[in-house]
Formats: sequence, structure tokens, C-alpha cells
Amino acid sequence: MATTLIVGGTSGIGLAVSQQLSRSGDEVHIAGRSRKRLERALATVDARGHLLDGSESAAVEALARSIAPLDRLVITLAGSGGTGPLAGVEIGDLRRAFDEKYWPTVTVMQAALPALAERASVTLVGAVTARAAMPGTAGIGSLNAAVEGLVQPLAAELAPIRVNAVSPGYVDTPWWDGFPAAQRDAFFAQAAAALPTGRIATASDIAEAIVLLATNPNITGTVLVADGGARLTA
Ligand SMILES: NC(=O)c1ccc[n+]([C@@H]2O[C@H](COP(=O)([O-])OP(=O)(O)OC[C@H]3O[C@@H](n4cnc5c(N)ncnc54)[C@H](OP(=O)(O)O)[C@@H]3O)[C@@H](O)[C@H]2O)c1
Repeated sequence: MATTLIVGGTSGIGLAVSQQLSRSGDEVHIAGRSRKRLERALATVDARGHLLDGSESAAVEALARSIAPLDRLVITLAGSGGTGPLAGVEIGDLRRAFDEKYWPTVTVMQAALPALAERASVTLVGAVTARAAMPGTAGIGSLNAAVEGLVQPLAAELAPIRVNAVSPGYVDTPWWDGFPAAQRDAFFAQAAAALPTGRIATASDIAEAIVLLATNPNITGTVLVADGGARLTA
């Protein structure tokens, strides 16, 4: 039985990955910072839950060691902020955005390394903003490019461990809960109408792409674009 740790597995895309891998027989561990989110998630999936802040290296190392050897590490933790035209972006806000996503992603990878099985997979999540010409996304786009930029060098450096990432566009997850519902719905309707696929992705759509990357033994060093064609319409 494969052992999987999903940091960020208590919500959205990570929770959908945990449900899919648990159904296919993995021993799944999900981790996040909020107890309430963790408890709600555990009511929907057969998994073991852990309270963890991915930016705390020692805590990640201890958790990973306690469930080693890890066959699959999936990092779906999310941040916010860093968006808007460059002229108005607060540099402190952009730094915080990197603190919320890029640095914890690197910290989790580094701290979990000693616990990875010889042929483990590591799967990260970037975003379409990493390579689309969307005004107002220079900050968040460079953050996601930094995450996706980890993939190729680490796939070479850590081989035979495989390292990949998925790059989503718009996905209907609790990440959008920070927006008033009416504003989010209007944005989704407008975005869906412009997308070649004509729809906003579900967490499950992106989880399927992550499961492929995490389980297929022939895929490494790959950023799999699963953005509904958003990069074509930017
Ligand atoms: N939703 C979209 O439209 C979209 C589009 C493109 C890319 N993405 C990317 O997809 C990934 C998943 O996003 P999502 O939409 O599934 O977001 P989400 O529903 O907000 O889930 C994020 C998860 O990460 C956890 N988390 C955040 N910071 C953490 C930390 N420091 N340590 C441990 N866990 C942490 C959260 O739990 P706690 O807060 O309790 O820790 C939660 O479980 C992110 O990388 C996001 O940037 C999302």
C-alpha cells in the first residue's frame, strides 16, 4: 500500500486528491493548520489528519519521519495576495504572498526529503499566471513561476524521485471564499464564458491531473497545464 502525505489536504484541490487516492487504496495523510478545517475534511475522506504549518521545518520533518517511507508527497497549500497592477502592489503584500506559498512549499519539500521512499513522487501546484500575459498578475505570476521553476532542476537533482507540478486556471474551491459570493459568482460566469472549455474547473478535475503525475512512473520534470485554456485567452 502506498503512503501519501498531502500538505494542504484539508480543503479544495488537496482534499479532492486525498479522496481520489484514498479510494484507490493509498494510506492517506492530510495536513493543514486549522483544526476546524481538518475535522471537516476528515468527515469526507478515509485519511489520517495532522495539524501542521508547512512553514515550520522541524514540524514537517517530524511528521514525515513518523509516517516514512513516503511514496507520494503532494503540496497543495495556498496563499493569497500579491495581485493587482504593479504600480499599486504593496511590496509587503507581495512578500507575504511568497511567505504563504513559495517558502512553505520549499520548506515542506526540503524537510520531507529524508522520509521519501527511493522512487517517491513529489507533486506541486503552480498556476496559469506563471506564464500568461494577464495584466495585474505580475506579482502572483512570478510567485507561481517560482514554484513551477522548482520542477525541472529538482527532477534532475532528486532522481529517481519524480518531481512534477500541475498548473491550474480557475478552480471552484474554498480559496475563493474570501470574495463576496455575488462577486465570485459574477467573476466565474464571466471567466467561464471566455474559456475555451466554457466552464470553471472543479477541485476534482485538478486532482485527477495531480493523481496522474503522482502515480505514473514515467512522468517527471513536467508541469502539466490544466487551465481550461485560460492561457490562450489572456
Ligand atoms: N482555486 C483556484 O482557482 C486556483 C487556481 C490556480 C492555482 N491554485 C493553486 O492550487 C493550490 C490549492 O488551492 P485551493 O484552491 O485548493 O485552496 P484552498 O481550498 O484554500 O486550500 C488550501 C489548503 O492549504 C492549506 N494551507 C495553507 N497554508 C498552509 C500552510 N502553511 N501549512 C499547511 N497547510 C496550509 C489550507 O489549510 P489551512 O489554512 O487550515 O492551513 C488548505 O487546506 C494552491 O497552490 C493555489 O495557489 C488554485
